[in-house]
Amino acid sequence: MATEELRPGVHWVGVADRGRREFDGVLPIPAGTTYNAYLVRGQQKTALVDTVEPTFGPQLLAHLQALGVESIDYVVSNHAEQDHSGSLPAVLERYATAKVLCTAEARRLLADHLDLPAERIDEVGDGSRISLGGRTLQFLHAPWTHWPETMVTWLEEDRVLFSCDLFGSHLAGPAVRTTEDVRLPVEAKRYFAAILMPYRDHVVRALDRFAPLPLELIAPSHGPVISDPKSMLDRYREWAAGKPRNLAVLPFVSMHGSTRRMIEHLAEALAARDVEAEPFDLSDPDLGGLALALVDAATIVLGAPAFLAGAHPKAVQAAFLINCLRPKARYLSMVGSYGWGGYLREQLLGQLELSAELLEPVVVRGAPRAADFAALDRLADAIAAGHESLDPPPPVPRVPGADSGARHRCKKCGWVYDPAQGDPKGKVEPGTAFEDLPEHWYCPLCGASTQRFKELA
Ligand code: FEO
Repeated sequence: MATEELRPGVHWVGVADRGRREFDGVLPIPAGTTYNAYLVRGQQKTALVDTVEPTFGPQLLAHLQALGVESIDYVVSNHAEQDHSGSLPAVLERYATAKVLCTAEARRLLADHLDLPAERIDEVGDGSRISLGGRTLQFLHAPWTHWPETMVTWLEEDRVLFSCDLFGSHLAGPAVRTTEDVRLPVEAKRYFAAILMPYRDHVVRALDRFAPLPLELIAPSHGPVISDPKSMLDRYREWAAGKPRNLAVLPFVSMHGSTRRMIEHLAEALAARDVEAEPFDLSDPDLGGLALALVDAATIVLGAPAFLAGAHPKAVQAAFLINCLRPKARYLSMVGSYGWGGYLREQLLGQLELSAELLEPVVVRGAPRAADFAALDRLADAIAAGHESLDPPPPVPRVPGADSGARHRCKKCGWVYDPAQGDPKGKVEPGTAFEDLPEHWYCPLCGASTQRFKELA
């Protein structure tokens, strides 16, 4: 991607990493990502807001050279994580008089991670300003909008918020200044789920602080620039502070089919009680998709067989991830099957540390039988009663003019086909309407044909 001018004298100078498929070594990013850096030129001074992953440093420097940047006065480091700070050493070497501006906590982290010379770093206080000549940067500390040291930078005259990780998305489109990509709303939500959901209270504080700003453009550190800030702020408020929705998420792993049958039965029982159920097969996990569903879920039911003397490791991994993400679910339970004993129930529930009400688990010896299915029905009753006053999950937000149709739920197992996400494992592109699915496409969870799906309102 070439550089892009967002405002006269304000340029995107970042890089696209289209080939990256995983972030933090755990979460899939099917649409790649960008590392956004921005050049702001005033009448007297020039600032660079953030840098890029260190391996892409030469590309950043090439962008600056292409724009004829001979000197930089300030390099604003909103966030010390290396995908944004990693090229600071290269930038400081090329621009020998540039000073890094960051929070006090960031200064320590930059020293720890990058060995930056202390004399090249100036701390900036919360709310402080610098003038570039006709342009003013204001620094707003926003702790825990990923790390504790994070801040955002407000370009007052141009009404642009350089928001760092907030409002970002792992999405490497053809350009950063676009909201036309149908994937943006879903990818922004997936990003929120994986990066910011654990810090929901801090996100709400940041939203309250930004509310009075006359925002015209949000320029995050990943993915497209956002030209409709109000919509994104509204979405964030809903994700961070809204009530959970009438949705039960059912992550499960099955070794010989018993746990799968229990999950399928539970999903059907929930559907019959007008509770939306979203099963996730952890044997081939889309942990990003699981995180996305957790944003709205009011209930989480983990499904796992015993593995040797304890819970299956993939379910334990899912439980660990759920703890880390701290979703706002109100109810929690588990189902599963064991052979000869062990600590399946104790171990799996012991892993989950959410402040949610525990609904009676259903753990069976061997294959589930009539009494066990009746117990699953009772679990579905309890979930439906808890969800009684909750609204349905919101339709996946879509860009006007790019609607790809309604979601459809498999009547057999409860899996939901969402056109905005497609079915990457089945090689169905995002944006594919249900009606346009290939003739031989089958439900990825239970193998049912499209005839077994029902349109969701
Ligand atoms: Fe994109 Fe927290 O770094």
